[in-house]
Amino acid sequence: MQVSENVLLKSYNTFGIAARARYFAAFTSVGELMELAARQPGADLPVMILGGGSNILFTRDYNGWVLKNNISGITIAGEDNDYVYVKAGAGENWHQFVQYCIARQLGGLENLSLIPGNVGASPMQNIGAYGVEIKDVFHELEALHLKDQSIVTFNNADCHFGYRESIFKKAYKGEFVILSVTYRLSKHPRFNTSYGAINEELQRMGVQELSIQAISQAVINIRTSKLPDPAQIGNAGSFFKNPTVDQEKYETLKAAYPHLVAYPVGDRQFKLAAGWLIEQCSWKGYRDGDAGVHSKQALVLVNYGQASGGEIYTLSQQILDSVEEKFGVLLEREVNVV
Ligand code: FAD
Ligand code: EPU
Repeated sequence: MQVSENVLLKSYNTFGIAARARYFAAFTSVGELMELAARQPGADLPVMILGGGSNILFTRDYNGWVLKNNISGITIAGEDNDYVYVKAGAGENWHQFVQYCIARQLGGLENLSLIPGNVGASPMQNIGAYGVEIKDVFHELEALHLKDQSIVTFNNADCHFGYRESIFKKAYKGEFVILSVTYRLSKHPRFNTSYGAINEELQRMGVQELSIQAISQAVINIRTSKLPDPAQIGNAGSFFKNPTVDQEKYETLKAAYPHLVAYPVGDRQFKLAAGWLIEQCSWKGYRDGDAGVHSKQALVLVNYGQASGGEIYTLSQQILDSVEEKFGVLLEREVNVV
């Protein structure tokens, strides 16, 4: 395993931020990871695990170890009458894993097609899109505890999944390296087309008979029509979470802004479309230097080329402040700021 020093991370994060790592190495097995942990000079330097770098904003050089998880391999871990348990190494590309399952007629992940990044990060924020979150089909994961070097299995309840949340972003932040994830996929898929424009897109595609392939393609079409491709413009998807407000706040806002975009979630709670709030503050399509707000989706901040992480972060703070001032709603960043 090669350990490199002062490594440029621009090609390792989809924002395309030119931060540097003091030490950088990639590992392809838990053995290699343990070896790296043992070689680490001085336990005082922090360690961060990198997957596809599609949910990270580097605001400075990283004075520590950046370890890229390249553990590969997809295997069938078990099967019963209704489900197949598919286990994937953390370094497997997420979309390729989804396509692997779809090709075998295994249902459950098709709505999550084309999300960038790797399998190992999928439980970190319980990735979600088009009416599905991974918690709906997650079975278990294996993770290495960095300090005591034990391998721990987490089941669904252990992960404390929430909207763009898990225990790995909160109580266990920075403590575990996810090695593999096992998903429980259905042999008899139940189609989920209720969200957003999926039905509309299926109709436009002329789909006569519903299938997981067709749903996947519909999701791919919708996503490519509004989200910027990181290969063309640097970004990390939604920069903020969609905020939840209580009924009273919702009613006040709705009275003042009849076009407010909101969805009921649970008991007297409403989720607001952060993209709408940001657009109403006139940020959509804004650009200052190379930092900007995407012209088709105001929730996505973009780097047109040479923006620094600090510039993107400053823009995110300006957006946060203006949304709070206009609507009295405090947005929360979804992207991991380093
Ligand atoms: P990284 O960015 O590499 O890492 C993310 C965090 O997880 C970091 O804190 C990192 O340290 C940690 N981490 C990564 N791997 C491991 C590991 N093996 N063990 C421990 N910690 C680890 N997300 C959604 O939920 N829904 C969407 O629809 C969606 N759309 C997107 C669209 C675009 C265009 C982009 C660029 C991003 C989008 N995202 C979306 C965000 C992103 O794709 C997901 O969060 C994805 O899971 C990140 O995976 P990654 O491998 O790139 O993680
Ligand atoms: N909207 C606007 N203006 C905008 C953007 C959105 O008015 O500029 C309004 C529209 O009314 C639209 C609604 O907001 O109908 C919702 O927009 P969209 O369907 O694009 O979804 P989103 O709420 O902005 C969320 C996720 C995405 C996920 C999509 C589809 C979050 C933070 N984001 O976006 O996830 O792909 O739904 O399920 O929950 C990500 O996490 O990185 C991500 C891209």
